[in-house]
Amino acid sequence: MSGLAGKTVLLTGAAGGIGEAIARGFAREGARLALVDFDAARGLALRDALRAEGAEAHFAQADVSTYAACEQAHGELTAALGGIDILVNNVGISPKTQGRALRVWEMPPAEWDQVVAVNLNSAFYMARLCSPHMVAQRFGRVVNMSSVAGKAYCDIVAAHYAATKSALLGLTRHWAAELGEFDVTVNGLAPGRISTPLLKSVPQEINDAVARVTALRRLGTPEEVADACLFFASDEARFVTGQVLDVAGGWLMT
Ligand SMILES: NC(=O)c1ccc[n+]([C@@H]2O[C@H](COP(=O)([O-])OP(=O)(O)OC[C@H]3O[C@@H](n4cnc5c(N)ncnc54)[C@H](O)[C@@H]3O)[C@@H](O)[C@H]2O)c1
Repeated sequence: MSGLAGKTVLLTGAAGGIGEAIARGFAREGARLALVDFDAARGLALRDALRAEGAEAHFAQADVSTYAACEQAHGELTAALGGIDILVNNVGISPKTQGRALRVWEMPPAEWDQVVAVNLNSAFYMARLCSPHMVAQRFGRVVNMSSVAGKAYCDIVAAHYAATKSALLGLTRHWAAELGEFDVTVNGLAPGRISTPLLKSVPQEINDAVARVTALRRLGTPEEVADACLFFASDEARFVTGQVLDVAGGWLMT
């Protein structure tokens, strides 16, 4: 894919399964990485691995659920790398209790607030921080990590997860309209079931059952999501904005 070499990418949830694959994909294309995660050990290990392969990579440890922490991380990373050209709002959590999604009458308000803060508010915070540079330079790319569970009912996840992933679809459309005149595109990804640590929160039988009702009869890999993310950020997607692409092997097709 073209147009990624030399671009600076800020990626949240970088140390997770999909985040790491996205980081490695951008590094392979010659992009410069600004990695954010609250898991410092894994984030620093990824930074070091990317550097060992010749990439320019920096890591900022942050809990992205607050604006102050996002501002701090963005400040540290842009001091090292300059303004952000590509923002990937990848971070996401999907809490379960004993492998089960809590129902509305069981849901602790604190858990609801945490999911909204991490999955949704962090996307706004990072876009708020990165978009002034994109607007000023009249170029930018934003990729929001939604989910098929934001588009269709999915009994594996809880309502807070579905609600935040649906909200990211609205943000994607709205920001695409706001930023289009500055040549900033905003798109979303809707992965299906992808083999990452996030899946370990539910029993294996559930993941097997999903594979059985997926058109391609298997779960996806983080690299398959990363490839779609790279496409949205590349020159090949320069006339694509406000769109959401399912990377789901034909699960929960809408
Ligand atoms: N794995 C799937 O099947 C699947 C399906 C659809 C969508 N998604 C979405 O893809 C994205 C990545 O998922 P994943 O499977 O790689 O998850 P993961 O659990 O492997 O990784 C998530 C990463 O986010 C980090 N993180 C969590 N809370 C944070 C916080 N408050 N501040 C900073 N970092 C924080 C974690 O440390 C971890 O490194 C998420 O938005 C998820 O909702 C995943």
